[in-house]
Amino acid sequence: MNIIFLGPPGAGKGTQAKMLIEKYAVPQISTGDMFRAALKDKAPLGMKAKEYMDKGQLVPDEIVIGLVEERLKQDDCKKGYILDGFPRTVAQAEALDKALAKMGSKIDHVVSIEVDNKELVKRLTGRRTCRKCGAMYHAIFKPPVNKDVCDKCGGELYQRDDDTESTVMSRLEVYDAQTKPLIDYYQKKGILKSIPGIGSIDDIFNKIVSILGS
Ligand code: AP5
Ligand code: MG
Ligand code: ZN
Repeated sequence: MNIIFLGPPGAGKGTQAKMLIEKYAVPQISTGDMFRAALKDKAPLGMKAKEYMDKGQLVPDEIVIGLVEERLKQDDCKKGYILDGFPRTVAQAEALDKALAKMGSKIDHVVSIEVDNKELVKRLTGRRTCRKCGAMYHAIFKPPVNKDVCDKCGGELYQRDDDTESTVMSRLEVYDAQTKPLIDYYQKKGILKSIPGIGSIDDIFNKIVSILGS
């Protein structure tokens, strides 16, 4: 099953994708995570992406598209995947359609997670992520048992550089201007499923599973 998670920054795409990959045994492809990993390795791609990420802007299409096309060719994608944070522009969506058509493949479902801006700002400014395993927490909504320590692996929890209030505001504006049009794009293709992203993480997960089927 090939799935896209669409939704504004902080909607819970990463949180839900990490739960789904366990259930469906498919990889999560998060372009944001790929850029952060490249930065950690001090790779040129990471340095380049950071220039844009720190301002809350999108990394240019030509960089992102090539990266995802290469990723989709890897063996673990044969049984399906969850795209998290890609596509984010109409140009990326069109490029993805073309690349998949060439591979004789297509997207099966687009899940759009909807959350209002006030809630998104709260979620992002309180988010904490594990440096070691990538598990996600929230200072108030999903606190770890021990402050700044991952429940799963004992790794250190950190705050993302782009989760400051001013960068969050730019990311939300960029989402409205450049990514929101994709809702219409996939609606027209008849593969869009919208779900409210408010409520407990488990309730939202159950809603997604009921849409995708178990
Ligand atoms: P990326 O890493 O994709 O960030 P994003 O889209 O801004 O989304 P987030 O990861 O911030 O939010 P999320 O929806 O995953 O929420 P999460 O589950 O963490 O991209 C970062 C940057 O990289 C971009 O700004 C851009 O520069 C660049 N980039 C990436 N892809 C690109 C592309 N395709 N093209 C161009 N540039 C690209 O949840 C957030 C918090 O809320 C967590 O703390 C969580 O615990 C909490 N939470 C989750 N669900 C709930 C709930 N139901 N109730 C309460 N709290 C909850
Ligand atoms: Mg994410
Ligand atoms: Zn961890």
